[in-house]
Amino acid sequence: MHVKALCTLVTSAVFFELALAKDSRTFAVNHFYGNGPLTMGRMDPIMNPGEAASHSHAIQGGSNFNLTMTDDALLDSNCTSSLVDADKSNYWTPSLYFQADNGSFLSVPMFYMNVYYFFEPTDDEIKAFPVGLRMFIGNSSLRTPPPGGAANVLDTNQGTIQPVQFTCPRSSYDVPSYPPDSDGLHGVGIQDPNNAGAGAGFPDMNCDGYASPLRADIHFPSCYNPEAGLDDYKTNMVFPSSKGTTGGKANCPQGWIHVPHIFYEVYWNTPLFADMWTQGTGSQPFILSNGDRTGYSLHGDFIAGWDESVLQKIIDNCDAGDSGMDKCADAGFINDASTTCNIPNLVPEQIDGVLEKLPGNNPPTGWGQEAEAATQNAAATQETTATQEASATQETTAPQEAVATQETTATQEAAATPETTTTQEAPATQETTAPQEAVATSETTATQETAATQYTTTTQYTTTTQEAATQETTATQDTERHIHEHWRQHLREHLHGNHA
Ligand SMILES: *[C@@H]1O[C@H](CO)[C@@H](O)[C@H](O)[C@H]1NC(C)=O
Ligand SMILES: *[C@@H]1O[C@H](CO)[C@@H](O)[C@H](O)[C@H]1NC(C)=O
Ligand SMILES: *[C@@H]1O[C@H](CO)[C@@H](O)[C@H](O)[C@H]1NC(C)=O
Ligand SMILES: *[C@@H]1O[C@H](CO)[C@@H](O)[C@H](O)[C@H]1NC(C)=O
Repeated sequence: MHVKALCTLVTSAVFFELALAKDSRTFAVNHFYGNGPLTMGRMDPIMNPGEAASHSHAIQGGSNFNLTMTDDALLDSNCTSSLVDADKSNYWTPSLYFQADNGSFLSVPMFYMNVYYFFEPTDDEIKAFPVGLRMFIGNSSLRTPPPGGAANVLDTNQGTIQPVQFTCPRSSYDVPSYPPDSDGLHGVGIQDPNNAGAGAGFPDMNCDGYASPLRADIHFPSCYNPEAGLDDYKTNMVFPSSKGTTGGKANCPQGWIHVPHIFYEVYWNTPLFADMWTQGTGSQPFILSNGDRTGYSLHGDFIAGWDESVLQKIIDNCDAGDSGMDKCADAGFINDASTTCNIPNLVPEQIDGVLEKLPGNNPPTGWGQEAEAATQNAAATQETTATQEASATQETTAPQEAVATQETTATQEAAATPETTTTQEAPATQETTAPQEAVATSETTATQETAATQYTTTTQYTTTTQEAATQETTATQDTERHIHEHWRQHLREHLHGNHA
């Protein structure tokens, strides 16, 4: 009611953005349902429209996801893997593989994904994502650690933006997840100085926290420049700035639109492979689908397909937090979590199981292995089969790659059966682990006390600043200990499905 009264007032006010200023954080977690993600495969309508993408992704959201998409295509989706039916957006990230000692690549099943929608303190008015907005964050070419260190930086007033991390929940951090002296260049990443559970690049320890495999964490910017437009993903978004603000607020540049800050948590079933590698030796076996052994190239993509009026009501009125956006009073129709929404891989090829090459033949790179990669790939003219009607020439993003051109041969074949059953391969070991299992302390550096206090749900999101007072919060431990109930429920279902 308060907000509505305010709205009435401000329609006649000049400085309506100020009038709708937000003093404290609210948020709601967008949960997904169904058998695995919406789809997986070498599809990326933002980076590689109309052709096979350079590497494989795990994709969530609206079923009209396609190799080429018009701005409003998602709205007509038959279904969405988001519980909130009004959300037909697509969310995607690179998929993960395990490289065995003999060189084979084994697909790591995606376990679950959450997308946090944060509505944060600001003098701006926070608006729903415009339909068709394309966002990209991260850098698929990176094989070196973030220049400013492993801690997240999400405020342009606090230095170079550092939007991606891995979280590795463990039963104990007595042996750190990253060697303390790691320079991040020789086989293992570097730890977040503020959080023992997280770091930049892959850790060299197995993630054995209760029901908590390795997690990719990706923060998106929340300032949209309407002059750049919906499609110009390279320039249309920036992170907000705390410069000149008080009370921990962060604002967008003049004339830009402040949209929700979204944060992907992508859980990979790495415990399945725990017995196949030796921990703590300064190297690790996981590799992103683009061939990155380091993890520094972690990135995320988004295309908005929201019913804007529903999202606006959630922004204005809902603080459901971790219990989920599907609990928001104004969320509209909620999908039946016992059903599923999947589409085929539109670039049919084997992406699961044991592979001799990564899909797209991306050579392993990173940790100084670029030279090896270049040699391996020197002769690589490679044929893949795709559903696309035309041949496509495609550039891979691996650095120093000698030959970056791949031929994609089109066929008219119907798309293959979607690869949707992998998430059911939950390891039995997780079933026997006590839910109360303690997880070692992690620390969060928060800009303001209010933010840190209100933020009691997610491990990774910190309003970290270099200058900020260091503050330990129990919020992060809570997250590790009390794994999101919804996700745990999924895990149980998967386990029971698998062992029935
Ligand atoms: C995806 O694009 C293809 C080619 O343009 C089209 O035939 C197909 O109907 C599209 N799929 C959806 C779900 O829109
Ligand atoms: C969407 O639903 C329509 C009508 O039921 C159906 O004809 C169409 O094939 C569906 N499209 C997809 C991609 O499932
Ligand atoms: C390599 O090792 C993996 C893991 O043990 C196994 O699944 C795969 O079949 C092996 N590949 C070859 C070519 O032997
Ligand atoms: C991505 O990283 C590569 C390798 O460090 C760098 O050359 C390139 O400029 C980066 N791209 C962007 C958009 O920052």
